[in-house]
Amino acid sequence: MMKNSIVINADVEKGTINRNIYGHFAEHLGRCIYEGIWVGEDSPIPNTKGIRNDVLEALKQINIPVLRWPGGCFADEYHWKDGIGPRSERKRMVNTHWGGVVENNHFGTHEFMLLCELLDCEPYICGNVGSGTVQEMSEWVEYMTFDGESPMANWRGENGRQEPWNVKYFGVGNENWGCGGNMRPEYYADLYRRYQTYVRNYGDNKIYKIAGGANVDDYNWTEVLMREAGRLMDGLSLHYYTIPGDFWLGKGSATNFPEDEWFITMQKALHMDELITKHGTIMDKYDPEKRVGMIIDEWGTWFDVEQGTNPGFLYQQNTIRDALVAAVHFHIFQKHSDRVQMTNIAQTVNVLQAMVLTEGDKMILTPTYHVFDMYKVHQDATLLSVDATVGSYKYNDQEVPQVTVSASKDKDGKVNISLCNIDHKESASLSIQLRGIAEQISSLSGTILTSDTIDAHNTFEQPEVVKPTEFNQASIENDQLDVTLPPMSVVLLTIA
Ligand code: AHR
Repeated sequence: MMKNSIVINADVEKGTINRNIYGHFAEHLGRCIYEGIWVGEDSPIPNTKGIRNDVLEALKQINIPVLRWPGGCFADEYHWKDGIGPRSERKRMVNTHWGGVVENNHFGTHEFMLLCELLDCEPYICGNVGSGTVQEMSEWVEYMTFDGESPMANWRGENGRQEPWNVKYFGVGNENWGCGGNMRPEYYADLYRRYQTYVRNYGDNKIYKIAGGANVDDYNWTEVLMREAGRLMDGLSLHYYTIPGDFWLGKGSATNFPEDEWFITMQKALHMDELITKHGTIMDKYDPEKRVGMIIDEWGTWFDVEQGTNPGFLYQQNTIRDALVAAVHFHIFQKHSDRVQMTNIAQTVNVLQAMVLTEGDKMILTPTYHVFDMYKVHQDATLLSVDATVGSYKYNDQEVPQVTVSASKDKDGKVNISLCNIDHKESASLSIQLRGIAEQISSLSGTILTSDTIDAHNTFEQPEVVKPTEFNQASIENDQLDVTLPPMSVVLLTIA
């Protein structure tokens, strides 16, 4: 077993880790909103004004900073006026993207804002460019944020809400290169310029405008958007999913996968680093001050749907492999936190790489949930400089770094070091030098998330197969920390 050597420079601070890196995304897709979040006020499932309490309590625990809604592809077909007023009178429509099911619009703007209030998070609304009008987008902003007398503000009042809401984040379309209108970047850049003009700031509400960004490695999209519209945006998005197989021919199973798919999944998760670096280099050309944030508002694993479920519902299980993917991503995002201002995992409940899964009145926490819970200490903390020389995780003739790491200091001076060993067979022995804090150390504590099998996951029958436990394979002497990471593990160490 190779000794991996890491230096944590606690006295070299690299700026604040934006809490929004731990953001979420909930779309009108499958059972994310309906069943997963919204059950309605008359449901036998305990709820707060229609929002199920078990999910609410679980999500409160992980400190969701920002929540993106209503899509995704759904956003460019969503007409917000269908989702306000008495629920019994709201328009029933077909969710053509996702399963062709009836959307009754019972969860609309008021319900979403209530959810954000209950979660104490910022709303991130995604507007409709693909099939909506400039007027419609403009009026939505007026409806939500105008304080005083105006047609939309009056209408909001008639629907029971006098006070305007604060809406900080607003996306001007989604995937406009694909489901959001199949546009060329030049065309979308012009539309973005036009639509965003009417996304107004009313009163004290200052909107952070996010332009629809590239798919994976479409660097030309980023180039054109930054060149033609960079000065008119606050953020530019990027979408990249971790898919071990082929998107159309078979993505791979969430639970029943061979060892090589474990390796490929890790390799593809690590690819996020290259994407951020290359898109970031283009952004630097037009925005050297890094004013425009990179907003990775869709990321996570995407596997084949679970057998017997609606293919349009994107329901997948979640294993220890997903937990490692999340940890790898957070280390990458934090490393790039000078440019990455927000990310939103897809998606919060019952869809893709979810935090919680529900079945009727039952709910379970996924391994991914536990990573969000462990890593919440990094939100708004100061990123520390880390130098790592680590061995390789080899599979057949390929290799990737076996260990990834990130460290931050919180406002009380506690240092949190998160580590993951992505090798599914070998443990990793780490020699960590702590520069700049050695004299102040009074305690070391740790938490680990791991398992013995590559497909370990929680079910409604066995909900606690994968859960965090105390970690005791770390010892400290002066400025030297020795750690042994078991195979496929995520560890959080706190030094106070
Ligand atoms: O998250 C699922 C879908 O993936 C979103 O609706 C879309 O934006 C992306 O293609």
